[in-house]
Amino acid sequence: MTTILVTGGAGFIGSDFVRMVLDERSDLEVVNLDLLTYAGNLANVRACEGDARYSFVRADIGDGDAVRSVLREHGVDMVVNFAAESHVDRSILGPETFVRTNVVGTVVLLQAARECGVRRFLQVSTDEVYGSLGPQGRFTESTAVAPNSPYSASKAAADHFVRAFGKTYDMDVVITRCSNNYGPYQFPEKLIPLIIHRARRDERLPVYGDGKQVRDWIHVRDHSRAIALVLEKGAEGETYNIGAENDCENLRVVTTILDTLGKPHSLIEHVEDRPGHDRRYAIDASRIRAELGWEPRTDFDTGIAETVHWYLENAKWLDGVTSGEYRSYYETWYAGR
Ligand code: NAD
Ligand code: TYD
Repeated sequence: MTTILVTGGAGFIGSDFVRMVLDERSDLEVVNLDLLTYAGNLANVRACEGDARYSFVRADIGDGDAVRSVLREHGVDMVVNFAAESHVDRSILGPETFVRTNVVGTVVLLQAARECGVRRFLQVSTDEVYGSLGPQGRFTESTAVAPNSPYSASKAAADHFVRAFGKTYDMDVVITRCSNNYGPYQFPEKLIPLIIHRARRDERLPVYGDGKQVRDWIHVRDHSRAIALVLEKGAEGETYNIGAENDCENLRVVTTILDTLGKPHSLIEHVEDRPGHDRRYAIDASRIRAELGWEPRTDFDTGIAETVHWYLENAKWLDGVTSGEYRSYYETWYAGR
């Protein structure tokens, strides 16, 4: 048995990865370490409860003592670090938490992994570290890092520390940089679940600026499969871009959701643009395709239709996560537009 510590496994992507690993890999044990911030939700991993190969620990990746005791107690072989503050708009409202978790937390986790002899450390990063593209071209692994938001700056800083631990302490580290994910259990502050949540209630749909910004969408399960492959077969010290080449303008994403729901486009409201808003992301994933044989399996039209239906069928989950903290955040944020 190999034991993986998954941090942030109660969030959107981390929980998908945990569910996938337990479903598909009988040779792996998973320890899920998550602080359960506003974005962490044990309902996302309810299906894993009761599985003898799964355990959950509530802790902060920035708490070295807690992390070391989990690594030792469970004899962890590999770490996959999903834990992060992940939303750009929140990073604009308050960057400090992003530095605390994404930068300092990652360094504390790296240090603990080194001290406890962890075999491999995989850092889950983002294409946003590369900054913004003009109308042409795609990000490759050798594109210069040029982050524009406090979120992407904190993720880029973390990537530099991961690389530095690899070089300085001869740790086996790998980094993945994926494009925008969509799918079940995504917190409805991000574009796709936010639009579904608001459209089903006939609420105004905030599109930033002209809505012609481009994001490169990938289904979360395709991302999880890529991470599992890099964890197992990725070359030590290397970075792998992950993306499904589904780049598309925000307005098209929003109208596709409205058409699937049978709601009018008149719900769209153009609001003030996000400060420092990156215009276009597009990933060149040829390296992971060629070297590791990864390919995305879900095309955007099928994936988005399934995703819309998932949120409709799981309205209770959506209602649960949109009470309390979400309301106060969203009202403060929306009032500023
Ligand atoms: P999310 O916000 O849904 O989940 C983050 C999880 O981390 C939550 O469960 C939260 O409780 C936990 N967490 C936060 N701070 C913590 C701390 N200090 N200690 C322990 N746990 C903590 O995020 P997500 O969308 O699932 O993203 C997961 C990772 O993937 C992040 O590192 C993000 O940067 C990266 N990523 C996300 C996307 C995307 O489209 N969402 C794309 C590429 C990369
Ligand atoms: P988001 O889901 O926040 O991801 P990211 O900023 O990390 O790419 O946003 C995706 C795109 O949608 C981005 O260009 C910002 C835009 N957007 C809106 O137009 N309205 C919204 O309410 C949100 C949340 C995002």
